Amino acid sequence: MRARYVALEGVEGTGKSTVALRLADHLRSTGRDAIVVREPGGTPAGEGIRELLLHGDHMEPWTEALLFAAQRAQLVADVVRPALAAGIWVISDRTVYSSLAYQGGGRGLGVETVRTVNAAGLLGTWPDLVVLLELDPAIGLSRQSTADRIGAEGVHFQQRVAETFAELAQAEPDVFRTVAADRPLSAVVAAVVDIVEQRW
Ligand code: TYD
Repeated sequence: MRARYVALEGVEGTGKSTVALRLADHLRSTGRDAIVVREPGGTPAGEGIRELLLHGDHMEPWTEALLFAAQRAQLVADVVRPALAAGIWVISDRTVYSSLAYQGGGRGLGVETVRTVNAAGLLGTWPDLVVLLELDPAIGLSRQSTADRIGAEGVHFQQRVAETFAELAQAEPDVFRTVAADRPLSAVVAAVVDIVEQRW
């Protein structure tokens, strides 16, 4: 069976990183090769851009959106496409859908405009499945130990992001599955594994 590109998405503090690692462990233990990548980052250029994005001073919304798209183009070309071509599943801690929700919705740049800008660098490689971990943004923020530049935008910004994720999930039911993340991580992992197993 061909390898799949699976996205874990959601607001801050939903446990995406841990869930991504556990899902990859599950795939490997059932005979499928898998890697975990994170955005922004995952390549030398991407890690440099990550530093600019998360730890810099004020940035114009479009500078931010284009830098996210830039690191993504590099990651897709250098890591995601070669892995999929080699039969290796790619589990991604955030993807283009974070840009649609944070820059398109949160920053107000518009989901469709941000989608168009990102499409050029993706070369047609969009996630096969997006698992949206749903959590009240206020709870997610309270789980964060340190906030980066975007994580520090506050709860109203996070609410716009959460609303945009929910709208995307409604608009793209074939791609999205939602999982409640306001429960122990083991239950969230089990639900995500179940979704992947049912799908493929
Ligand atoms: P990170 O610490 O990796 O994520 P998390 O909060 O999930 O632990 O920080 C990534 C931050 O960048 C997070 O606030 C979400 C934001 N982001 C965007 O605004 N747009 C994007 O396209 C991506 C990938 C992330």
